[in-house]
Amino acid sequence: MDIDEIRSRIPGLKHCSYLNMSYGPKPTPVTDEVVRMARYIEEYATLSKEVMEEIERVYEGARVDVARLLGASTDEIALTRHVSEGINIVATGIDWEPGDEVVVTDEEHPAGSLPWMNLAQRRGIVVKQLPLAPYETEGIVERLDDLITPRTKLLCLSHVSTRTGFVLPSREVADTAHKQGVPVLLDGAHAVGLIPVDVKALGCDFYSGCGHKWLLAPQGTGFLYVDADKLDDLEITWIGASSAPTWDPDSYEFEALTTAAKFEFGTRDKAVFSSLSTAIAMAEEVGIDNIARRSWELADHLRRRLTDVPGFTLRTPMDPVRSTGISAFDIGVNGRDLTERLWEDHRILVSGREDELRVSIPYFALEEEVDKLVDVLAELAVRA
Ligand SMILES: Cc1ncc(COP(=O)(O)O)c(C=O)c1O
Repeated sequence: MDIDEIRSRIPGLKHCSYLNMSYGPKPTPVTDEVVRMARYIEEYATLSKEVMEEIERVYEGARVDVARLLGASTDEIALTRHVSEGINIVATGIDWEPGDEVVVTDEEHPAGSLPWMNLAQRRGIVVKQLPLAPYETEGIVERLDDLITPRTKLLCLSHVSTRTGFVLPSREVADTAHKQGVPVLLDGAHAVGLIPVDVKALGCDFYSGCGHKWLLAPQGTGFLYVDADKLDDLEITWIGASSAPTWDPDSYEFEALTTAAKFEFGTRDKAVFSSLSTAIAMAEEVGIDNIARRSWELADHLRRRLTDVPGFTLRTPMDPVRSTGISAFDIGVNGRDLTERLWEDHRILVSGREDELRVSIPYFALEEEVDKLVDVLAELAVRA
């Protein structure tokens, strides 16, 4: 892997140490593709045959690329705007009765928590919480088994925890849920583009992901996998012309698509999905295994060095199978203030909250950048 060459494709890296993958930095070929599509639409006029055909070509091409990336079939992929849209499609597509239950973990992002809180308020469902720490597969599976009841209608959990970078034992958890007839929705926000994802091997029923984090694609490029066996069960909540091409204005009968594309509705920025394909091609060219390995090695280096600095307690497990390029530390001071100082004084981008610091290291970061972060944090710790 030629890191210098890869970095030369991502101009933003010249100006800072990019260690916060909430939104990934954008490579020039990705931006070029956004511009190419915009110029094509401008040049040939929005509704011309050329433009309409090119937009459909790139949009359906992106569906093929996402399906390949996730190990799914194209019929199982809905293109969305973001992870939240995919989670909401699943959340509202289930027929909830008051008292029905959903199980979530205690490390979900608001995107994986709020839809259930909303349904609790609106429909009277019950949200049950599965604690992940101390991050042992056996314990997680046992606790999950105890939480599931005949009223449980869904398990929703991250593939990779946004808070700690912990890789959840998705297969074991899915098998446990399925044994009791409970479908599983995985939130792949921090997995896709960072580690290999194979939805069939994971055994999930639904998988919601996005392009704008580790894949380095623009915001607004998301996707939802719906297992072929679940396509009929999941109800359509939002519907528009593209979800149901056959409808009769007199009888009010309609026939929706039978593929996951039935969950797409209304006019959307289809052209931007062309650059998602460019981003996927770049990740595949480097190799997702290589990306995962290098990102993990840099994070492992950080974890080993930073645990020696007083005041930093690692929350992320060290197990290579269950950890990624994301690390979280308890720091005993306000993480937001620290994040601000790192940016203002050193142009280092990390993320922080309450008394936590999260460092997410992309594969194209430099070991010197990780060392600099540790040195700065050690210096601040001495002065505190
Ligand atoms: C685990 C997880 N899920 C969902 C989201 C939100 O994603 P989106 O903005 O694509 O809906 C994030 C964002 O950081 C996240 O970390």
